Amino acid sequence: MNVQKIMVIGAGQMGSGIAQVCAQAGYRVLINDLKQEFVDRGLAVIKKNLSRQVEKERMTLEQMEEILSKLTPSTDLHDAKEVDLVIEAAVENMEIKTKIFSQLDEIAPPHAILASNTSSLPITEIAAATKRPEKVIGMHFMNPVPVMKLVEIIRGLATADEVYQTIEDITKAVKKVPVEVNDFPGFVSNRVLMPMINEAIFTLYEGVASKEAIDEVMKLGMNHPMGPLTLADFIGLDTCLYIMETLHEGFGDDKYRPCPLLRKYVKAGWLGRKTGRGFYIYE
Ligand code: CAA
Repeated sequence: MNVQKIMVIGAGQMGSGIAQVCAQAGYRVLINDLKQEFVDRGLAVIKKNLSRQVEKERMTLEQMEEILSKLTPSTDLHDAKEVDLVIEAAVENMEIKTKIFSQLDEIAPPHAILASNTSSLPITEIAAATKRPEKVIGMHFMNPVPVMKLVEIIRGLATADEVYQTIEDITKAVKKVPVEVNDFPGFVSNRVLMPMINEAIFTLYEGVASKEAIDEVMKLGMNHPMGPLTLADFIGLDTCLYIMETLHEGFGDDKYRPCPLLRKYVKAGWLGRKTGRGFYIYE
């Protein structure tokens, strides 16, 4: 399938990164959010990232302008009427996502693929909110999107082979590596990552070591770029809790029980970098 125009829903950390890499690959991109100020903020982040590439002489000013010209701001979901692909990167909430997908199903042209960047919600359930479940798929980018190589592609129960193939081709076109997975809670990435982060929090909770020591062990001992507690702050502790709850509910196994300390931090509003405080304090 020939995809030329993409709408990215959500101009936050993930959405702006996805819009950036799609524009860099030459696609025309509508960057959509509820309010103009959210879209402007997302565009400003993209501009800052690209300016850095220009400063480092990896890109010319003309190339940057060309990429920016591919991006069109949008605050109206009805703009989806002229796109070939929607990549939804709104908040991780099933009610909100199903509402967006049922609206998109009415608005987007019949050939359009509806993809979700969800990090753990069932694609099959999101697809069931539409009359085109065969055209619904998971396209899970990693944070920070411009840097991380992986896109986990999740097949819902009804996802058509040609839809999977199109998304795999687009993933390669945006210079990422596709990995195919099936639709189970947490997919592969968060089913493996989040219990490790949760266990690191239990280790802190039980006083086995300090937060710095836990992070140092995993950074230097396992060659992870960030320790698990630093990574949890980077992802957002609310997101980590939400994913653990999805795993716990989905599998019903005690090994996925969120650590009480994680719950406590989230209740305190200490959500990590984005709020200036999580396991660490950020200026
Ligand atoms: N946006 C764009 N570029 C960024 C960036 C951002 N937010 N953060 C860092 N970079 C770029 C920097 O510009 C720099 O690029 P150059 O080398 O070209 O100058 C490069 O990344 C390295 O950055 P730094 O030197 O500042 O710092 P670093 O070497 O410590 O790397 C990092 C930063 C890439 C974030 C690295 O620490 C890392 O890989 N951390 C782990 C990230 C990770 O695990 N992500 C997955 C999270 S889980 C997820 O996303 C799924 C989910 O569903 C929860």
